[in-house]
This record gives sequence, C-alpha cells and structure tokens, in this order.
Amino acid sequence: MSALFSLQGKTIVITGGAGLLGSEFTRVCIQHGARVVIVELHEEKAKSLIASVRKEIKTAEILFVKCDITKEKDIQNVLIKTIREYKNIDVLINNAYPRNAHYGRNMEDVTYEDFCNNLNMHAGGYFLMTKKVIEVMRKQKKGNIINIASIYGILGPDFRIYKNTPMTMPIEYAAIKGAIVNMTKYFSTYAASYGIRVNSISPGGIFTDQPASFVKKYCERVPLGRMAKTKDIVGGVIYLASDASSYITGQNLMIDGGLSVW
Ligand SMILES: NC(=O)c1ccc[n+]([C@@H]2O[C@H](COP(=O)([O-])OP(=O)(O)OC[C@H]3O[C@@H](n4cnc5c(N)ncnc54)[C@H](O)[C@@H]3O)[C@@H](O)[C@H]2O)c1
Repeated sequence: MSALFSLQGKTIVITGGAGLLGSEFTRVCIQHGARVVIVELHEEKAKSLIASVRKEIKTAEILFVKCDITKEKDIQNVLIKTIREYKNIDVLINNAYPRNAHYGRNMEDVTYEDFCNNLNMHAGGYFLMTKKVIEVMRKQKKGNIINIASIYGILGPDFRIYKNTPMTMPIEYAAIKGAIVNMTKYFSTYAASYGIRVNSISPGGIFTDQPASFVKKYCERVPLGRMAKTKDIVGGVIYLASDASSYITGQNLMIDGGLSVW
C-alpha cells in the first residue's frame, strides 16, 4: 500500500458505520490501518460487523458506540469514549441515514411534518455531529470531515425511471442532500483556519436488487452503463481520508459512473 494513501494510526469515526455503505467503509478503513469507531443506532448490526472484521483482521482496533446522531448527549458520549480509547479524532465520516416511518412517499403525499422531521434527523444530525466533532478537532488543530451526500444533492430526479415501480426519489432527500453539499462548503471555509478539511462524496445509486425496469432505465442514463457497487465508493473515502488529498477542501466528489456529466 502506498504511504500516500495509508490510514495507518488514524482514528476514523463513522456514523451509520454498520449500514450498507458504512460497513464497507469500516472494513476498508481497518484494512488500510485505521482505528474505527462505529457510531450506530443498530447495536446487533454493529456487533456482528465487528465480529466479522475481527475474524479477518485479528488486530483490528474497532470500537462501537451506540448513538443517535440527533441527540447531543449521545454524541458527547461518542466523543468521551473515543478520546478515552484512542486519544484523538482524525476523520469523521458522516454517513448515517436517519429516516422516519413515512420516508420515501411520493411528493404529493409528503406532509409538512414528515418533510421537516426527515430534514431535522438527517441534515440536522449531520450538522450536530459536525459541530460537536469540530470542537474536538479545533483543540487538536487538525481534522478531516467527509460527508456522504448523493447525486440528488445536485441533480433533479428523472421520474421516468421509477414508472411502474413502488420507488420514487423523495423530495426530502433532495432537500437533505442539497443541504449537505452546501454545509460541506460552509464548514470547509469555517474550519480551514483550524487545520480542518471538509469534503463530500456524492455516490450514484447502489445496486441492491431494485426492480428490473428501474435498473434498466437507470443504467441507460449512466455513461459507464451500470449502477454503483459499495466497493466503487470506498476509493473516494480512502483518498479523502488520507494525506493524498491534503490540499483538497470544500469539494464534492461525484462517484456516479458519469451520470452527472450530461
Ligand atoms: N444506498 C445508496 O444507493 C446511496 C446512494 C447515494 C448516497 N447514499 C448515502 O449513503 C449513506 C449511507 O446509506 P446506506 O445506503 O448505507 O444506508 P443504510 O440504511 O444501509 O445504513 C445507514 C445506517 O445508519 C444508521 N442510522 C440511521 N439513523 C441513525 C441515527 N439517527 N444515528 C446513528 N445511526 C443511524 C442505521 O442503523 C444504518 O445502519 C446515506 O447518507 C445515504 O443517503 C446511499
């Protein structure tokens, strides 16, 4: 492994670190030499991921802290436990995907309450986590924050691809991810003088056995001709988490097979 891309000795906090993308990030960060703190609501998923990572890498340094990213007390507990165990926080990856029971409805069925609730949990949770972690990174005089946004933070949806499927692209998601892309820019200039970099990654749709008609129409719109795999996203995470990207801040890295180019 090139030293430039090494994560050796770095402490990386990953919210939603046991989810679809988060578990891939956790595994690959460990493989690249990092210590990982999994910040998760879902205890069983986190514990089974840790067991599976430890089977592969016996010396893995990995900590699970149960936390709801919308609760300041929970975040404070993450910070206390991380500092106690690993002394500092080098990288925060904001990756959790909070949503309420009504999330994912068609625009005309989304209530004001559900719109606000989902925005509060997701964009608000990323804000709160970032704010609290910056307090720690400021004292360290260095830090690195990576926000997982989405192509739908910058693109409008093509509703034709959802026709005859139960799927849609929720209006809340557009508002949330647009906010996260722009919060990335805000925090990048706010925190630059403290030696903290802030970037985002915007993945395209990950293939998870969606309806065939959707997959076909989605892939036809992608220059590289396919949906993303979770493994496609990790290279960007390693790049932004490592010193290879030390002069990059405020950027939004599109990992979408070229979908956003035309
Ligand atoms: N899957 C995709 O196609 C895709 C595409 C682009 C961007 N993304 C983004 O990637 C990120 C991860 O998505 P995913 O598909 O892996 O989702 P996922 O649902 O598989 O994982 C998200 C994890 O977040 C955890 N979580 C939810 N609410 C939380 C809270 N309040 N506090 C702490 N943890 C909480 C869940 O327990 C879960 O393990 C999200 O930000 C999502 O918007 C996903």
